[in-house]
Amino acid sequence: MKIISSIEELRDQLRGQLRTAFVPTMGNLHEGHLSLMRLARKHGDPVVASIFVNRLQFGPNEDFDKYPRTFQADVDKLEKEGVYVLFAPTERDMYPEPQEYRVRPPDDLGNILEGEFRPGFFTGVTTVVLKLFSCVQPRVAVFGKKDYQQLMIVRNMCKQFALPTEIIAAETYRAEDGLALSSRNGYLSADERAEAPNLYRVLNQTADEVRAGHLDVFELERKAMSELAQRGWKPDYISIRKRNDLQPPSAGDLAQGAQLVVVAAAKLGATRLIDNLEI
Ligand code: PAF
Repeated sequence: MKIISSIEELRDQLRGQLRTAFVPTMGNLHEGHLSLMRLARKHGDPVVASIFVNRLQFGPNEDFDKYPRTFQADVDKLEKEGVYVLFAPTERDMYPEPQEYRVRPPDDLGNILEGEFRPGFFTGVTTVVLKLFSCVQPRVAVFGKKDYQQLMIVRNMCKQFALPTEIIAAETYRAEDGLALSSRNGYLSADERAEAPNLYRVLNQTADEVRAGHLDVFELERKAMSELAQRGWKPDYISIRKRNDLQPPSAGDLAQGAQLVVVAAAKLGATRLIDNLEI
């Protein structure tokens, strides 16, 4: 595997490649990321991964400084997955001057849910993703469904800018007990790690109630949030939304059987976890 940090060298290395499959990451790779690499391999060749902890998508009081950085262990894992190039730019490579041009997602998608609790987050994500795509020029790129809203926003960006990159969605990779794998799980204490699968359990419970015909969405959300709160969590939101635009379903949408997803973000101690489940 070639490890490249400069954009120019990356372009030289990938020149003429028409079927590149790309997996952008922020490192601290776990099985979930590796499942994205395997899916990428099915959709293209060569597979290119990136590791870049993108300052633009972190708020001033978020965990940019303490975000886990495990570069050598990540390299070893990617080598085993047969990744051809790892693009690992420094901040100077990526942002040699302040990034003044940014991609701002529409408010009705970018400022709801995660965007409401993490102002500017999605502008940071789409800006770096567009820049990474411009560097790698992939035919396909793989994003995990765990970041459901991010996946939708990136997909819509590609569509609106007619980018030649197809976005492939990968299923969420879960531990045996149901907890969605995330680099932030490493922040959990042993007790918190034991509690953490309850987020997914509550999502399943909520989804089951909807499937059973309980359509008072507001009441289901309230019940799910209060159950987590009683267990010591601080939920930011648990919300039943339409899969196609992440807006709340109207009574008409529910009557017509609109496709739904339940999305959640909640703090356990100092760690903020997100998860979702298609209903
Ligand atoms: O999902 C992530 O790890 C990041 O948001 C991404 C897509 C690599 C952009 O920095």
